[in-house]
Amino acid sequence: MSLYDKAKQTADYIKSKINDIPKTAIVLGSGLGPFANEIEKEFEFDYKDIPNFPISTVPGHAGKLIFGKIDGKKIIAMQGRFHLYEGYSAEEVTLPVRVFQLLGVENYIVTNAAGAINLDYKPGDLMIIEDHIGLFCESVLFGQNDDRLGTRFPSMSEAYSKELIKKAEKAAEKCSLNIHKGVYCYCKGPMFETPAEIRFLRVAGADAVGMSTVPEVVAAVHAKMNVLGISCMTNMAAGILDQPLTHIEVIETGKKVEKEFSAFMKEVIKEI
Ligand code: HPA
Repeated sequence: MSLYDKAKQTADYIKSKINDIPKTAIVLGSGLGPFANEIEKEFEFDYKDIPNFPISTVPGHAGKLIFGKIDGKKIIAMQGRFHLYEGYSAEEVTLPVRVFQLLGVENYIVTNAAGAINLDYKPGDLMIIEDHIGLFCESVLFGQNDDRLGTRFPSMSEAYSKELIKKAEKAAEKCSLNIHKGVYCYCKGPMFETPAEIRFLRVAGADAVGMSTVPEVVAAVHAKMNVLGISCMTNMAAGILDQPLTHIEVIETGKKVEKEFSAFMKEVIKEI
């Protein structure tokens, strides 16, 4: 079955359960547990019950698609995402985006955990993704193009919506949050980067590094959705501090800032 047909089947299944589809979808990375808890849930799917949906394998990532409201605003929240390093194909990783596309979702918001490359950043800081670097990895659009999903050569000149960035900045101001705006570099993982790689990425203009987001964002831009990305700096990138990186550190910092991060994301949703 083609990606389009799979996504259509999944979208039809969701439509059979949900009447009024929200215009905004948010992907919750690690550290947004409190946000998920504050959603007034109207319907919740386990990924395993959704036709064609893969199942996330990373500890700390649940697998739920939630339909509900946050402060009266209707949203879809994806709790748990799929990474290429787990062995999923490009098609599997981008299936949720394509389902949202066929459901008529207009705004695609991604959050993630990232390592800080910029020396002015510190663990716990948040960054609005202004642009990304993804050229080290194969594109998820590689292969025959399906014109029903998007054009062959999509522009990436404004991958992240300027309008949504402005709204996020306003939300940060309301939360009295000192937020950064910077470039997210995608490295496929699952190993953390080497110190030499991080020095290289800093020269290349990256402020943060992570193992997700860019594949989905490329598909969402191809799908003509408005994209907003927010990164939580869970650690300084490799080689900056004299200590090895661990997934535990990523989870622990995520936990420390989850209240602040969740309050901010709630304010972002209110602005949209
Ligand atoms: N590198 C890559 N991905 C990450 C990091 C990092 O330092 N921290 C959280 N996700």
